[in-house]
Amino acid sequence: MSYRDNPEALRALVRDAEVHRDVYTDPEIFALEMERLFANTWVYVGHDSQVAKPGDYFATAIGTQPVLMVRHEDDTVHVLYNRCPHKGTRITTETCGNTGRFFRCPYHAWSFRTDGSPAALPLPGGYENTPFATSQAARGLTPVRHVHNHRGFVFAKMAAGGPDFAAYFGDSLSSIDNMVDRSPAGRLEVAGGVLRYMHNCNWKMLVENQTDTCHPMVAHMSSAGTAIELWKRAGEQNPKPMAVEIYAPFMGPYELFETMGIRTWDNGHGHTGVNHSIHSNYSAVPGYFDQMAAAYGEPRAKAILDENRHNTIYFPNLMVKGPIQLLRLFKPLGPDRTLVESWTFRLVDAPDFLLERTLVYNRLINAPTSVVGHDDLEMYERAQEGLLANGNPWVSLHRLYEPGETGVSVSNGTTERQMRNQFRAWARYMTAEP
Ligand code: FES
Ligand SMILES: [Fe+2]
Repeated sequence: MSYRDNPEALRALVRDAEVHRDVYTDPEIFALEMERLFANTWVYVGHDSQVAKPGDYFATAIGTQPVLMVRHEDDTVHVLYNRCPHKGTRITTETCGNTGRFFRCPYHAWSFRTDGSPAALPLPGGYENTPFATSQAARGLTPVRHVHNHRGFVFAKMAAGGPDFAAYFGDSLSSIDNMVDRSPAGRLEVAGGVLRYMHNCNWKMLVENQTDTCHPMVAHMSSAGTAIELWKRAGEQNPKPMAVEIYAPFMGPYELFETMGIRTWDNGHGHTGVNHSIHSNYSAVPGYFDQMAAAYGEPRAKAILDENRHNTIYFPNLMVKGPIQLLRLFKPLGPDRTLVESWTFRLVDAPDFLLERTLVYNRLINAPTSVVGHDDLEMYERAQEGLLANGNPWVSLHRLYEPGETGVSVSNGTTERQMRNQFRAWARYMTAEP
């Protein structure tokens, strides 16, 4: 059976509180996700500080489509398909760099301005008296249709249809805003490089895990639990290392996660840590509050720093962690292959120590060498294999399900409501008319 021409079969994969295993394993479903879900939603491309100067570019992907984010000479940021209009050659295979005023294709030297418009091609006389001028090739590098820069965060939507940026994200943008507001200058810069980590599992397993609050105390027992045991033996006279401060909340009891709360928004967005989170009890950084109070006034500075959201999902494949200034992007490569990128940010005009903590957190929790990250990877890969077992094709998302639940809500922090929220959005995009 083909899902492509069968919306009923596609719809049947997502029940109120269960999903069929094919959403994780079926190659045709993956292809349809690229065509319908990743083309019609606003997908994160990169941060504009990665292309700080005109000519700077960053090569990445929206779904599986190769794109370039580039800063043009008028300072605007453009997103272009990374494909020469002549024979399709990738314009660049570098991840980032500065191209000057032009991109030049390495095959036959057609060149393009940094907004994608054509600049020159060799021996132009050969195109006179041909229909070249009216062809798509003559228009240069194809821009991605819709691009929106929200406080430095660049998102793009490839298809013509679908909601506009503000309608798609709604109030969920408050999590990005909080991360940016944590800079006294109201500005972030990518800093500390990127950690890339290959996962042999479906991208949605990673997205679901970001609001899965019933796994840390179980799956991370061997890593975070061991760190706590070692610390207990060290004796109280020693200062608490940053690593222990970061690891310890992972072993918090169920009650910690129940009371932190989960908020959902329309279109599959949501976050853990409404009331407090694993980031709430980090030690204060000397001088930081004074800088914030000077920039915003004390009440507003306090409100910004009291917001300790844990993980915010921007559906489909971005997670933002405001209090620790990092994001993770779950890049789908195939039904059972996902590249995870973890990017970290400097809060402009804030003490350097904050960046240090961010980088330590990223290496301890998200790096390919992280002990915590391995716990999760093991679970995803076991699930990807286990889903092929016959007998029960369904995955349970029943926890704290309420009949008729939709959109905006705040619930007990151990609910699987945000996962159901993601799949409701998934089903809507997958079955909408192209
Ligand atoms: S393929 Fe790019 S110039 Fe020919
Ligand atoms: Fe985890």
